[in-house]
Amino acid sequence: MLKKTVHKDKKLLWISPFVVFLSPQPAQMQLYKSTRDLQKALRSEKSKKRRVGLVPTMGALHLGHLSLVKRSLYQNDITVVSIFVNPTQFNDENDLAAYPRMLEKDLILLSAEQGEIWVYAPQAEDIYDGNISSKKYDFNNLDQVMEGPNRPGHFNGVATIVERLLRITRPNHAYFGEKDYQQLLIISRVAKQMRLGVKIVGCAIIRESSGLAMSSRNQRLSPAAQSKATFIYQQLLWAKRRFTSMSLPKIKEAVITAFQNHPSFELEYFEINEALKLSAHQERIKNKKYRAFIAAKIDGVRLIDNLAMN
Ligand code: PAJ
Repeated sequence: MLKKTVHKDKKLLWISPFVVFLSPQPAQMQLYKSTRDLQKALRSEKSKKRRVGLVPTMGALHLGHLSLVKRSLYQNDITVVSIFVNPTQFNDENDLAAYPRMLEKDLILLSAEQGEIWVYAPQAEDIYDGNISSKKYDFNNLDQVMEGPNRPGHFNGVATIVERLLRITRPNHAYFGEKDYQQLLIISRVAKQMRLGVKIVGCAIIRESSGLAMSSRNQRLSPAAQSKATFIYQQLLWAKRRFTSMSLPKIKEAVITAFQNHPSFELEYFEINEALKLSAHQERIKNKKYRAFIAAKIDGVRLIDNLAMN
């Protein structure tokens, strides 16, 4: 097992004779590459009744991921951050090959956080126990829209790896971003259905100051494309502004036309769906929450985003 420990000393800082600032709690970080070693260490901590939070990621970490980590550090004694580019959830081999991998940089980012972080970065053979394939799940139609039909097999791959991560770490809480809103609903369902005894915590989308949702894929965009990509959020905001005054089909039509007229985008879908079941409605139903969803490609990079409409 490759294991790293980073300790930072607690420092006393004197500003005036009357004010003493204590620097935050010492940060402690461990790296586990072996599933067995991680499980052994977790068993020992759980026997001491320490609470465990899990933050599953595919690495190339940014402030969106770190917001999940911070939330977990706040609610648990130990935060396990998994970093694993899961092959079974990619339906496009080029996308899998191009996915950014930068473990050393990720470790440096995490070591700046305050609290106890265990990074779990396994090899595929290890975490899949020699059988790198997806299970088949019944997602009660949550997978029949948007990312489901556009990325065949994607959610079975996601659910398989997340179920494995939850069974390996048995956390008290697991954190997922609303950036992948459909994924968050699907995982909540799987965790409940399998009675995994974990509370799934959904976290708000973190955006660049331009409004572009943070994503590991943004690193593949040129500065010019990053700036153009803010169009996605602008369209979501436009839809929200029209939500009470225009019909849902009219809003959809206008946004789809705006994308068709944009020289750089290839729109995959724009939907406004009910927020819990993801069903599409011609007319809004009173007291129901709705969300708008976009997937679009710019410079060959596929971006997704969504926004609550009410
Ligand atoms: P990844 O894309 O690395 O995202 C890891 C987690 O970070 C997900 O829950 C995602 O929704 C959240 N996240 C990403 N960008 C965010 C942002 N801008 N604001 C808030 N949260 C954000 O999603 C996956 O990995 C994988 O499918 C995974 C769940 C790890 C399974 O392989």
